[in-house]
Amino acid sequence: MRKIIIAIDGYSACGKSTTAREVASILGYRYVDSGAMYRAVTLYFLDHHISLTNPKEIERGLTQIHLAFHINSHGQTELFMNGVNVEKSIRKMRISENVSPVSTIKQVRQAMVEQQRKLGKDKGMVMDGRDIGTVVFPAAELKLFLTADIQVRAFRRQQELLEKDKLVDLNTIIANLTERDQIDSNRKESPLAKATDALEVNTTHITIDEQVDEVVRMALGKIVRSRK
Ligand code: CDP
Repeated sequence: MRKIIIAIDGYSACGKSTTAREVASILGYRYVDSGAMYRAVTLYFLDHHISLTNPKEIERGLTQIHLAFHINSHGQTELFMNGVNVEKSIRKMRISENVSPVSTIKQVRQAMVEQQRKLGKDKGMVMDGRDIGTVVFPAAELKLFLTADIQVRAFRRQQELLEKDKLVDLNTIIANLTERDQIDSNRKESPLAKATDALEVNTTHITIDEQVDEVVRMALGKIVRSRK
């Protein structure tokens, strides 16, 4: 069967990653969380005190970062940076509070987009992020743009953090999501935007299972049509 690329973009904490992971698992596709890559770069820059206004330091830093996705024993994709599993550390608030400024940097975006395109060259992939349907894979067969009310998004993110034994105040989360959306939507380099041919899905009132079923149904429609 012919394979396609599914691009899922949208605001912070709209359920993109959960949807993308589940859909990939059902279709037997690979899943790439592009946000995890920007989070890993942020972790490296913070740990190595790289100044975001020094292009030379940024360039050098980027050459030192090797990212690879591995599948764990539960079948879940995890990101490794320079051989170390960084899945836990990149989800912390310290990273959430610094990732958007790092993601505005042109050199960072160029390096990540190049790797993302390589990962998707054989298709059969679901990738989620902010610029997947607009910049990384403008020819993706299925493009989705997820939205949801800010209160619902913040509550869902709070639950995710709680599952990792971290209680974060709802207002702190709302402030972080709002700030990131603002920076992501207004940056010069590939801002967060709905591709003209993307389908918008509002996830405020639907469950994750309904969301996943809907996307799988749309994907199967595209796969069947792309065989003709
Ligand atoms: O999961 P959540 O919605 O909190 O965010 P994420 O997907 O982990 O992405 C974290 C941050 O990375 C975003 O707020 C963006 O600043 C940046 N990002 C980006 O610029 N481009 C992408 N394709 C993916 C993420």
